[in-house]
Amino acid sequence: MPVFGGAIDVTVRARASVDAARRGPGGPAVVTVRAQVSMREHCRSLPALRTLAAGGLLLAASAQAQNDEFVAPYVPTVEEDVELMLDVAGVRPDDYVIDLGSGDGRIAIAAARRGALAHGVELDPELVELARANAAESGVSERVAFLQGDIFEADIGRATVVTLYLFPDANLMLRPKLLAELRPGTRVVSNSFHMGEWQPDVHDMSARSSGGVLLWIVPARIAGEWSVEIDDGAFSLVVQQQFQEIDVDIGIESDVAGVWSGLAAGTATLTGDRIRFDAESDTVRLSFDGRIGDGVMEGYVQTVHEQRFFVGRWRALPAAASSR
Ligand SMILES: C[S@@+](CC[C@H](N)C(=O)[O-])C[C@H]1O[C@@H](n2cnc3c(N)ncnc32)[C@H](O)[C@@H]1O
Repeated sequence: MPVFGGAIDVTVRARASVDAARRGPGGPAVVTVRAQVSMREHCRSLPALRTLAAGGLLLAASAQAQNDEFVAPYVPTVEEDVELMLDVAGVRPDDYVIDLGSGDGRIAIAAARRGALAHGVELDPELVELARANAAESGVSERVAFLQGDIFEADIGRATVVTLYLFPDANLMLRPKLLAELRPGTRVVSNSFHMGEWQPDVHDMSARSSGGVLLWIVPARIAGEWSVEIDDGAFSLVVQQQFQEIDVDIGIESDVAGVWSGLAAGTATLTGDRIRFDAESDTVRLSFDGRIGDGVMEGYVQTVHEQRFFVGRWRALPAAASSR
């Protein structure tokens, strides 16, 4: 049977200046704290562990851990929440799932059971071995792998879904890497813990874990000025962006007259690599829907003018690039 149930050992380790007597020969100082936590209680165990670790142990790890340091203890996600995390992320057979800090492997294994390819990254070599054994027991070894290593150095660009069960501090340390290395549209799902000012797109509170399950969709980076062309006109678009929140402003040459005169932007949304925004003047209404890729935004625009309806194409390039 896969070793997924029953009471668990919770191990907190941090590289820190601690009792030198525990320092292994030539190795980093490692402190191990063990506590028995039942699976049923695990949701409440993380706050308890934080208290346990408050003597500087775990916080030392999460404050500046980047290199081979544990930023969260081993506490497995309860099975129901494993399935909920995969449901919220919408994991399908064509996904590639990476669990950062994979513990006994249960999330990556559950993803593989759904037909996805998956791998876990875990610092603790014993947990890596356990996860591999669990994958073999579950008959999914061909679709899942476990790599021993540091999540901050992991190669994550292939993922379509990333799963996390780390502390908020660790999520925050990981955030720049997620935003820089994951492709727009990649889903990031976290058991219980937030990502600071990057607000979740979904926060499902039906989880057994008291913090719920949170989902973010990695947004394309589109801040700046763009030159937009549509079938019978051109204008500039200035985008301000804070994660997935965008504001757009339309710039029209001052001597432009007719339907284009006074065109102003309305609502705008960005979901992964998909942008939608409206623009309106006294006489025309435009609804843009497009995708961002390779430094180009393009798609379709619906125009409503004098009670007539047209569909055309639009395309935008960064303003600096288009003026070259
Ligand atoms: C709360 S457990 C979550 C395990 C699994 N993802 C789950 O949800 O069942 C966090 C895991 O992250 C691992 N971990 C902590 N810091 C890490 C680091 N810097 N690199 C890789 N793994 C790390 C821990 O060893 C632990 O197994």
